[in-house]
Amino acid sequence: MPQARMPRRKVTVIGAGNVGATVAQRVVETGLADVVLLDIVPGLPQGKALDLAEAAPILGYDVGVIGTNDYADTADSTMIVVTSGLARQPGMSRDDLLMKNAQIVSDVVGQAARHSPNAVIVVVTNPLDAMCHVALKASGFPHRRVVGMAGVLDAARFRTFMAMELGVSPANTCAFVLGGHGDTMVPVPRYATVGGIPLPQLMSQDTIERLVQRTRDGGAEIVSLLKSGSAYYAPGAATAEMIDAILEDRHKILPCSAYLQGEYGVQGLFVGVPVRLSRAGVEEVVEVELTDDERREFGRSAAAVKELVEKLGTYA
Ligand code: APR
Repeated sequence: MPQARMPRRKVTVIGAGNVGATVAQRVVETGLADVVLLDIVPGLPQGKALDLAEAAPILGYDVGVIGTNDYADTADSTMIVVTSGLARQPGMSRDDLLMKNAQIVSDVVGQAARHSPNAVIVVVTNPLDAMCHVALKASGFPHRRVVGMAGVLDAARFRTFMAMELGVSPANTCAFVLGGHGDTMVPVPRYATVGGIPLPQLMSQDTIERLVQRTRDGGAEIVSLLKSGSAYYAPGAATAEMIDAILEDRHKILPCSAYLQGEYGVQGLFVGVPVRLSRAGVEEVVEVELTDDERREFGRSAAAVKELVEKLGTYA
């Protein structure tokens, strides 16, 4: 069967499930790059890619999109996005997924990295920070070229709740979230703004705490509503923002899971922090001043990530 032509930058998305397909859709619709969608299930990535290709005449994009089960088709990708794995079911924590997804991520990253040795890897599979360690080891890439998507999503959830509370445009808000992508994540309201105005000037401490808690529970809230599977529209949009920042060399500051080497007092661990993203991947970890309480919360969150990473054994 003839495939669409593929002359341009190439993003490989591994896992053609809900998140992977949503990422692929955003990348082709914004014309950022050609997309190779890969999955272990025969027919699934081919079917979704063909469906996306058939939307092109209507939407007017002309990037290529193919689906495959063969890593040879991913060769020379500029970016590899890892969404393969099991999604959370109701009552299941991100951590329950640990060993199963470690095996999957290790396998897919090992294969993809061999075919695209210069790519930047964006990890989406949960538990996120731990999976970044698995991807780092399986790829053998420098740590700057392995980055995890979590903070952009968590911050987007916080921003959504800020906007809902104040009745303002979500685009009017700005925030970041620190720490691991889990129950211990640390939204930092002191640095959150609406139209440049610090959040604590716009709402009471009680309200802020309520929004912070809803942000921490943001993934679980969607899981319990969907009954089967987890969120994908916002995770897809968050991943696409990171892909755009990297491919377009934007030097954008975004909260991401990055490998810390002493920053924030953490050594040798992937944790969510603000980073500058560019074509090189993580250009720089941006260190912001934290209060004693914020530092303590961040430390607790990093310790929770470390505990998971230690359980990974030879995968990390
Ligand atoms: N190789 C390739 N693809 C695989 C493999 C593998 N070894 N194992 C599983 N997959 C594929 C599945 O076949 C499935 O199509 O990964 C896809 C996962 O898709 P979904 O089950 O729809 O999960 P999704 O909602 O996309 O979430 C994927 O992202 O946000 C995280 O917690 C979420 O870890 C989960 C991941």
